[in-house]
Amino acid sequence: MTDAKRTQQENYQAQDPASGPLTTDQGVAVDHTDDSLRVGERGPTLLEDFHFREKLTHFDHERIPERVVHARGAGAYGYFQPYESCAAFTQAAFLQDPDVKTPVFVRFSTVQGPRGSADTVRDIRGFATKFYTSQGNYDLVGNNVPVFFIQDGIKFPDFVHALKPEPHNEIPTGASAHDTLWDFVSLQPETLHAIMWLMSDRAIPRSFRMMQGFGVHTFRFVDAEGNGTFVKFHWKPRLGVRSLVWDEAQECQGRDPDFNRRDLWQAIEAGDFPEWELGVQLVPEEDEFAFDFDLLDATKLIPEELVPVRPIGRMVLDRNPENFFAETEQVAFHTANLVPGIDFTNDPLLQARNFSYLDTQLLRLGGPNFAQLPVNRPVAPVRTNHRDGPHQSVVHSGATSYTPNSLGGGCPAIAGADAGAYRHHVERVDGETIRRRSASFQDHYSQAALFWNSMSDWEKQHIVDAFRFELGKVEAMSVRARTVEVLASVDGTLARAVAEGIGVPAPRQGADHHKGNSPALSQESLRGDGSI
Ligand code: HEM
Repeated sequence: MTDAKRTQQENYQAQDPASGPLTTDQGVAVDHTDDSLRVGERGPTLLEDFHFREKLTHFDHERIPERVVHARGAGAYGYFQPYESCAAFTQAAFLQDPDVKTPVFVRFSTVQGPRGSADTVRDIRGFATKFYTSQGNYDLVGNNVPVFFIQDGIKFPDFVHALKPEPHNEIPTGASAHDTLWDFVSLQPETLHAIMWLMSDRAIPRSFRMMQGFGVHTFRFVDAEGNGTFVKFHWKPRLGVRSLVWDEAQECQGRDPDFNRRDLWQAIEAGDFPEWELGVQLVPEEDEFAFDFDLLDATKLIPEELVPVRPIGRMVLDRNPENFFAETEQVAFHTANLVPGIDFTNDPLLQARNFSYLDTQLLRLGGPNFAQLPVNRPVAPVRTNHRDGPHQSVVHSGATSYTPNSLGGGCPAIAGADAGAYRHHVERVDGETIRRRSASFQDHYSQAALFWNSMSDWEKQHIVDAFRFELGKVEAMSVRARTVEVLASVDGTLARAVAEGIGVPAPRQGADHHKGNSPALSQESLRGDGSI
């Protein structure tokens, strides 16, 4: 079976002769690149040395802005193959035929640190997948934990400003242990569920090959008749979920800051291709309000006891990129890159992401033509009325680039449902314009408590140790104390154990009152360490 993405890339690479004599950008042969043109052996360099100027100018412009978050990453190509047709709930073409392999590019990342930071820091990991489908690109831009820190995207700049190095001294650059993050967490208890995952061993994965991935938000599948089904996406690694212990993670940072990146690269080079199973939790639209949390709240997961994960296909990564900058650095994922059969919900975090990714990439990748870059280019045909702009590499022909037009050329919008066009799911929405969080988003503690309660004793100890390490570095004692107070609303024993290790008084009360709110979550549900 041919890999359409690989063929497309080979055509690009044919434009870069692998060998041959040195030339300028204009193709003029260069026979001497070690000395600049100058007046006399010890005189000034001449402006007319166009080779010198071109070489230096290009070098001076080699860097682009790093991603505002998820700056450090590693990527690989591969394919996705469904186990069977998913036509019963989605019309997405790449989920129909078990004989069809869809090319993918995956980028794994850390969130907080800059491009050159260490791999094995305590952090959430990004798990972003671009499917090059026959209907256009579909991006599943997920993380390695199933919940996020905030409920509404308007808080994202606040959250990231608190998480990133502090602006006056750019410290800390690779870890989460600092005053501003914990100040934010203690004042914004919706962060607590994700914080529990961050303090667990999940946040120091042994290998990208041993990490789960989650779409986090509730999305929507749409079938050929236009019927919707809510869906949560899960990636489960064939190798099972494995973590480092904290001492190992710290040692790796010193001995090999590229620990996770090297592991992925070497495994693929050795033919030991990593593999994940894609699973979905499906919720009929009529069950939207059947849970004691809101499906639109990204700080909550759906317990697998309530809605089991149904395996629908597998992904194999079998090819390393040719060039890190061209591919891993310039890849542009976007939650709004959808194909027919997959749609959003009104999750206010997801809605914000749908704005943010394209916006940031316009800056990061220098204008509106980055979809033409080899790694971003769909294998599906692209015909638009977009024209010009920086780095335009398509030579559009003809006089018309608008619709309607009576002169021919241009790209008319295709008519008729059969033409395979994207149709947004039809949903009735009613309401007054308000700036207010739904009451159904109010419970910040139950699932954080369930996570804690699902841990074994040694896992609980690792979590306590992580809190002590991180909070023990916080200079403001008021922030330490307030964090312990909010932790007490998750679990009294946890809060007391943390307080004892960081020199603050035990919290006034220890809440164990959340345990009965939802069905107990099993180890599989929360720890997800069942390999496939
Ligand atoms: C990267 C924004 C929440 C996963 C990014 C980038 C931005 C961003 C601006 C950099 C993109 C680029 O330069 O190409 C936001 C906003 C969020 C949000 C505004 C909330 C409102 C999330 C959530 C997840 C997530 C909930 C996971 C479910 C990722 C991943 C990347 C990323 C995996 C790296 C993509 C790559 O490898 O290139 N995000 N994000 N983000 N985000 Fe988010």
